Amino acid sequence: MSAVFKSMEAGFEPMAENRLSEVVAVEQVAYAHPWTRGNFADSLRSGYQAQLLCAGGTLIGYFVAMKGVDEVHLLNITVAPAQQGQGWGRLMLDALALWSRGEGAQWLWLEVRVSNQRAQRVYEQYGYRRVGERKNYYPAAGGKREDAIVMSYRL
Ligand SMILES: CC(C)(COP(=O)(O)OP(=O)(O)OC[C@H]1O[C@@H](n2cnc3c(N)ncnc32)[C@H](O)[C@@H]1OP(=O)(O)O)[C@@H](O)C(=O)NCCC(=O)NCCS
Repeated sequence: MSAVFKSMEAGFEPMAENRLSEVVAVEQVAYAHPWTRGNFADSLRSGYQAQLLCAGGTLIGYFVAMKGVDEVHLLNITVAPAQQGQGWGRLMLDALALWSRGEGAQWLWLEVRVSNQRAQRVYEQYGYRRVGERKNYYPAAGGKREDAIVMSYRL
C-alpha cells in the first residue's frame, strides 16, 4: 500500500455518470487506445457491473463487467498508473469474483492484448488460464490490429 493511501480507507462505489470525467481521465493515461466516455456511458445504460475503487476521495481504479448466463465477461479493469503494482488490481479481481459468484456465475473470462504481458501475469498469478486467441481483436498503432489472448477463471 502506498504511503499516500495506507492511512485512508479504500472502498468500492458504483460507477455513475457524474464520475465519468474522473474515470476517463484515468483511462486516457492508462491506455494507448482508451475507452471513450461514450463507452462507459453505454456500459452504465446497459446495466453492466461497474465499480470504482476509491481511497480518500481519489479514484484508484475501476472495473466493468457484463453478466451472461453462467459466466461474467470482464470488459475493463484499470488501476491509475501511479497506483499500479500495490495489490489494487488483485483486490478488484477479488471483488469481481465475489460479485460474480453471488450472481451464480461459474466462469469469468476476459481478453487481453498479446503485448500486455504485465496484465497477463497479474491474471495468471490470480488463477486465470489461457484458453484461446482472437485474431486482430484490438486497434493498434498505425492503423494496425493486435491479437487478444482469451483467459478464463473457474469460480
Ligand atoms: C493490469 C492492472 C489492472 C493490474 O493492477 P495492479 O494494481 O497494477 O496489479 P497488482 O498490484 O494487484 O499486481 C501487480 C503486481 O504487484 C504485486 N503485488 C500485489 N500486492 C502487492 C502489494 N501489497 N505490494 C506490492 N506489490 C504487490 C503482485 O504480486 C503483482 O506482481 P507482478 O508484477 O510480479 O505481477 C494494472 O496494472 C493496469 O491498470 N494496467 C494498465 C491497464 C491494463 O492493462 N488493464 C488490463 C487490460 S486487459
